[in-house]
Amino acid sequence: MQAIGIDIGGTKIAGGVVDELGTIERFERVPTDASDATAIEDAIVAMIEQLAEGRRLPVGVAAPGFIDAGQSTVYYTPNIPWRNEPLRERLESRLDLPVVVDNDANAAGWAEFRFGAGRLVSDMVMLTSGTGVGGAVIAGDRLLRGGFGVAGELGHMRVVPDGIPCGCGARGCIEQYGSGRALQRMANAVADGGGIGSALAAERERAGGVLEGAVIGRLVQEEDPGALAAIGELGSWLGQACSSLAVVLDPQLFVIGGGVADAGERLLGPVRRAYEEHLPARGFHPEPVFAVAELGNEAGVVGAADLARLHEDPTFLAY
Ligand code: BGC
Ligand code: NA
Ligand code: ZN
Repeated sequence: MQAIGIDIGGTKIAGGVVDELGTIERFERVPTDASDATAIEDAIVAMIEQLAEGRRLPVGVAAPGFIDAGQSTVYYTPNIPWRNEPLRERLESRLDLPVVVDNDANAAGWAEFRFGAGRLVSDMVMLTSGTGVGGAVIAGDRLLRGGFGVAGELGHMRVVPDGIPCGCGARGCIEQYGSGRALQRMANAVADGGGIGSALAAERERAGGVLEGAVIGRLVQEEDPGALAAIGELGSWLGQACSSLAVVLDPQLFVIGGGVADAGERLLGPVRRAYEEHLPARGFHPEPVFAVAELGNEAGVVGAADLARLHEDPTFLAY
């Protein structure tokens, strides 16, 4: 059975028709304005109609926030103005299709577990680094949902007492040190510092004062020392977070996804180093594998579709 997966990001909405093996048959993407919740809902509806082509397919919508255990209500999105939003009901009233709503990182993590980097493990943790930092926990072959549906909000673990204020209302969350936005802040600081920051500073000037993630990413690929310093700082924060997560969840695998994952080993190296440096029982603790997402930026779409299919027919998975 095919299913539709929609992934709502801070800057774009992606959607696709996905088959049982996780293969995307048709893919669409539109830019969004994260400050306008109504426009986002309209764009989701238009995209689903376009993808469904009149067929009755189950729909999974991955949203960047805290979602209830009933896969219906968006309790809170730090980077979009949704508060106790009955998103599933609203979409089902506008479309004659069955909809489930899930957390975006949970969807991406589920896709990696089923079809990507995590297909051979029972326990994995995924961190996605984009507009925010998302998390997914697979424990004993199952997606950990918690008592209220909001388990795996790993981006809001406090890593710095009274640190940078976060969109969730708290301070010092890993989201403020490990997201794509944090990378931009770090790259700007390196650019301001002169020396190794000269290429970043030149790119920033050329672009009228902004350093886009894609530009930082290109400089990382070119091994520009300033860009490597910025991605190294980001990786170091993520690695420290992983060392704490390891003592709670004991995964065989950590997967890093989102835009920054394009940096591959240039990100994973600093992640591993910080992980090892901060690991409790260091030297005597079995070492997990660190990998970037195999399904890339499409993981959210693939996972949302698979979770929708699973909701329609819970027997289609053997476990
Ligand atoms: C939200 C998460 C989401 C993540 C990535 C965080 O700010 O709290 O629910 O998974 O951003 O979009
Ligand atoms: Na999550
Ligand atoms: Zn937070």
